[in-house]
Amino acid sequence: MGRIIAIANQKGGVGKTTTAINLSACLAAENKKVLVIDMDPQGNTSSGFGLDKNNIENTVYEILLGESDIEECIIKNVLDNMDIIPANVNLSGAEIELIGVDMKEYILRWQVRKVADNYDFIIIDCPPSLSMLTVNSMTTADTVLVPIQCEFYALEGLSQLMHTINLVKRRLNPDLELEGVVFTMYDARTNLSLQVVENVKNNLNQNIYKTIIPRNVRLAEAPSHGLPINIYDPKSAGAESYRELAKEVIKRGEA
Ligand SMILES: Nc1ncnc2c1ncn2[C@@H]1O[C@H](COP(=O)(O)OP(=O)(O)OP(=O)(O)O)[C@@H](O)[C@H]1O
Ligand SMILES: [Mg+2]
Repeated sequence: MGRIIAIANQKGGVGKTTTAINLSACLAAENKKVLVIDMDPQGNTSSGFGLDKNNIENTVYEILLGESDIEECIIKNVLDNMDIIPANVNLSGAEIELIGVDMKEYILRWQVRKVADNYDFIIIDCPPSLSMLTVNSMTTADTVLVPIQCEFYALEGLSQLMHTINLVKRRLNPDLELEGVVFTMYDARTNLSLQVVENVKNNLNQNIYKTIIPRNVRLAEAPSHGLPINIYDPKSAGAESYRELAKEVIKRGEA
């Protein structure tokens, strides 16, 4: 069964989606079979791969509501070796519609288990909240990867996130582990970025990925072309860093 990694941080704009898109694409480029699941009603992962998200009938929403089977929702070969389950704004209604539904925390897990053998990696992009969507993602996942933006407020909210991971582990998914922390938007010209990295290292007794993702304008441009960075600009610093991260993620799984 494939390794299932949820990319989560309830803080907005820290690089979750950028990491989901580019880590997935770089894993696929390393010849791994990858499924990406967009669990964010913003649907940025879906549009980042060039999908016209508002004109797709079968999405994560239909899976959660039991209206479609997971196989019907997988869009195959968005890239070589890579499939995706998209999302759009409809997903924002799922939490309300599932009020009172028994075992709703496990809907995604049960569906994903049906296809997990077809993949080496399943990457789930979570929304910026600790909502039912994030809980479903963590119940499905083996590990949680936490992107941390190199800025002054980086540590704010992190204890809340760790608490949520621990709650899910205790009550819903005893096998859940923290994959690790990855620093994003590192700016080598400022002391602040370096201080944030040092500060987190000193305060967080967790796996920290050696690869640090730099602030790179090509990473910000790529989604508007519907392409991951390794295709949009393979020589950019952003592409280089996500290739390194992919190799590190693969290696950690083998260890
Ligand atoms: N390394 C980077 N260099 C430059 N820009 C980046 C980098 N990483 C992310 N960005 C940009 O920062 C913004 C936020 O990134 P992203 O959408 O990946 O964060 P997010 O955590 O998924 O946000 P949300 O919480 O809204 O889902 C985007 O405009 C993205 O293009
Ligand atoms: Mg996002």
